[in-house]
Amino acid sequence: MWEADPGKDLFADGDAPRSEPAKGPRAVTGELTSEDLEQDRTLRPKTLDEYCGQSRVRDNLRVLIQAARERQEPLDHVIFSGPPGLGKTTLAGVVANEMGATLHTTSGPAIERQGDLAAILTNLEAGDVLFIDEIHRLNRSVEEILYPAMEDFSLDIMIGKGPAARSIRLELPRFTLIGATTRTGLLTGPLRDRFGISYRLDYYTVDELAQIVRRSAAILGIGIDDEGAIEIASRGRGTPRLANRLLKRVRDYAQVRADGTITLDVAREALSFFEIDELGLDWMDVKVLRALTQTFGGRPVGLSTISAAVGEDASTLEDVYEPYLLQRGLMVRTPQGRKATPAAFEHLGVPMPHEKV
Ligand SMILES: Nc1ncnc2c1ncn2[C@@H]1O[C@H](COP(=O)(O)OP(=O)(O)O)[C@@H](O)[C@H]1O
Ligand SMILES: [Mg+2]
Repeated sequence: MWEADPGKDLFADGDAPRSEPAKGPRAVTGELTSEDLEQDRTLRPKTLDEYCGQSRVRDNLRVLIQAARERQEPLDHVIFSGPPGLGKTTLAGVVANEMGATLHTTSGPAIERQGDLAAILTNLEAGDVLFIDEIHRLNRSVEEILYPAMEDFSLDIMIGKGPAARSIRLELPRFTLIGATTRTGLLTGPLRDRFGISYRLDYYTVDELAQIVRRSAAILGIGIDDEGAIEIASRGRGTPRLANRLLKRVRDYAQVRADGTITLDVAREALSFFEIDELGLDWMDVKVLRALTQTFGGRPVGLSTISAAVGEDASTLEDVYEPYLLQRGLMVRTPQGRKATPAAFEHLGVPMPHEKV
C-alpha cells in the first residue's frame, strides 16, 4: 500500500529514466553515448520481421501476439533477460508495436517511491504496454504495489493518516508489463512468478550479427560487401549494439583511408587500426582473462577474488562479462571456482603453466 500525497504531482516525470553516473569508457557496459542514442533511434527494428536472430523468441512471440490480438486481450506480462546490448529494449518496442499498443517506458531505479509507480499505473489506458527496464532494481516497497497491479489489475491506496486512515482499492485498466533484466536470478521470487512469459536472449551468431550489420549499413547508406559485414560481425562480441558501433568506426576509416566502401580488407585494416580484439573482447574481458591466466596462473578462483583483482563489481562481472567468456570457451566455472581455459592462454599468448590447468 502507498499513501497518496496530495501535494505531489503524481503524473510528473514518471516516464523519464534518470541516468546514472558514468563509470568510465567501456565497450560493453559503458554509459550510452549520444551516438548510441542516435543509433538506437535510427537502427532499432520496429517489427518482428525486422528483428534479426533470436528466432525461437521471435516465433514464440508471433504466436502469442496473434492469439492475444484475436481475442482482443492484452498480452500476458513478459520478462526479457540477458546481457546488455542484445535487444531487450528493442524487443519491448517491437511487442508494443505489433500489439498496436501505446508504449510507456521507465526503469527500476527511476521509480523511487510507491507514489511514482502508482502515478504511472493510474495513467495507463486499457491495452497499453508499460516497459520497466532494469526491473531487478526496483525497491521492495515499490515492488509490493506491483504485485496486485500485475495480478488483479488493482491498486491499494491508503487515504489519510492515523485512526481516520482508510484504504481504497482502485481498479486499473488491463495492461501488459514488460520487464527487462540482465539476469532473471536477480528478481525476487514473487515478482518472477507474476510474469506469464519469460525469455532469455542469447548472444547472436556471426551470421545473425552480419545480417544486422548489413541492415544497419543499408539504413545508414554505407557501402559494404558480405565479407566486410562478416568480418565486423565476428568481432561484435555476439552483441548487436557493439556490432553497430564497430560498423560506424569502420565506416569512418573507409571514408578517410579507402574509397568509402567496406570490403574484407578495409574492415580488417580498420579493426586492427582501432585495436579491436579478434574476438571482439573489451578491455575488461581481457583484464579478467589476464588475471585468470597470469595472476592466478590458471588456478580456480572465486568471483570475489576476481572482482578484487580487476576492480569491477562482482555482479557486473557475473551478469555482463562472464556469460560471453563462458560462451566462447575462454573460461569455465568449476566447483572450486572460475578458471581460464587453454583457449584463453592461447588467445592472450600467455604460456600455459606446467601443472595441469
Ligand atoms: N535483433 C536485432 N536486430 C537488429 N538490431 C538489433 C537487434 N537487437 C538489438 N539491435 C540493435 O542493438 C542496439 C541495442 O539494443 P537494445 O534493445 O538497446 O539492447 P538491450 O536493451 O538489451 O541493452 C539497438 O540500437 C538496436 O538497433
Ligand atoms: Mg535496454
